[in-house]
Amino acid sequence: MTPSDPGALALELILAKKTGAALAPQDIAHLLSGYLAGQVGEPQMAALLMAVCWQGMNASEVDAWTRAMVDSGIRQDLSSLSRPTVDKHSTGGVGDKVSLVLAPLVAACGAAVPQLSGRGLGHTGGTLDKMETIPGWRAQLDPDEMFSVLDQAGCVICAASPELAPADRRLYALRDVTGTVESIPLIASSIMSKKVAEGTGALLLDVKVGSGAFMPDVTQARELARTMIRLGESYGVRTRALLTDMDAPLGHAVGNAVEVREAIDILHGGGPPTLRGLVVREAREMLDLVGITEDPEPALDDGRAWERFATMVRAQGGDPDAPLPQGQVLATVAAERDGFLLNLDARSVGVAAWRMGAGRARSEDPVSATAGVICRAERGERVEQGQPLLDLVGDDPQRVGHALEALKRAVEIGDAPGPDRQLVLERVDPEHTA
Ligand code: URA
Repeated sequence: MTPSDPGALALELILAKKTGAALAPQDIAHLLSGYLAGQVGEPQMAALLMAVCWQGMNASEVDAWTRAMVDSGIRQDLSSLSRPTVDKHSTGGVGDKVSLVLAPLVAACGAAVPQLSGRGLGHTGGTLDKMETIPGWRAQLDPDEMFSVLDQAGCVICAASPELAPADRRLYALRDVTGTVESIPLIASSIMSKKVAEGTGALLLDVKVGSGAFMPDVTQARELARTMIRLGESYGVRTRALLTDMDAPLGHAVGNAVEVREAIDILHGGGPPTLRGLVVREAREMLDLVGITEDPEPALDDGRAWERFATMVRAQGGDPDAPLPQGQVLATVAAERDGFLLNLDARSVGVAAWRMGAGRARSEDPVSATAGVICRAERGERVEQGQPLLDLVGDDPQRVGHALEALKRAVEIGDAPGPDRQLVLERVDPEHTA
């Protein structure tokens, strides 16, 4: 018989999961409500999370875990908006400023984009840290304010309210300090509980694959995508995923203000063509999910996407035209030989930007607005010995030595251009989730 005391139940569940047994849905619900109520302590929950990392969870356990997290808080209702809602979630990468452009671009084409975003941790950047470099811009909105910005601008980028999936907030903080982030069932339930609670009608998942991502290979990324799609669809959220390459940084800028600047370039019709191509592809997928057939690309060139971005930023207290904080170039890494640039390793560049101050080691650490790395060449380009490839930027010269160490093996130069690499590796939709 299942013990009614949550502490005793937790011990039983830890022992069961340690040996690979499946947990009953009602036990998972009871455990997570006991954890939120303070009846199950952090050590027990940490032990269970570690057991889940090693033994995994089956579909019915993942469903129950996700449901318990959704039910731990409020569920927003966005159905009174006049536009269909569609959100996008990236599992995180290096130089990934796609959301900053995508949300206003999709809004310019007639959908509403409720983009709840997070902060960076480790070598991957966070959308909120980037947006906060815009003078005056506020990430923290209460649910009514969020709704009002969404209604006015067609898009909103903000922090998740503490009332949405509070169990995930607690669990994520614990996973972060106990080495239990990298688990497909835990990542899938964490992301999807917030998206379901947010109230979006449709969702595009950008699952990053490669050295700079959580998922090092396509097989695991596909499994994560399929798990999230199944969860989304079970709540009536039309969900689809793209698996995209994260072996090299996205675009040229990695950091906070430097990434906002690059995003603004794209919103003004410029920016690196590869990055712009990915933004347009993702916008097409999002619009298709809500039945809008308009081609989004012209809205980047005719100012409509920028107009949405500026409206959103102003509605959140920011000045979209104010100069962004700018650091100095403190060091440059040059090509050691002539040849073709085969790769700029995403993880190494992300770690270098982090060490320059763009990222944080603990969730309470501040980040530098100006720090980062600028990539001055892209994969496949011909380079000459001595040509500048990477600039380290920021305000603190003392950080340079440590950051340069991270770049020791970042640059790969070969005699031939190497295979053509596509950013979109695969598309996963609900028909392929079995
Ligand atoms: N992002 C989330 O929101 N949760 C995870 O578990 C990992 C990435």
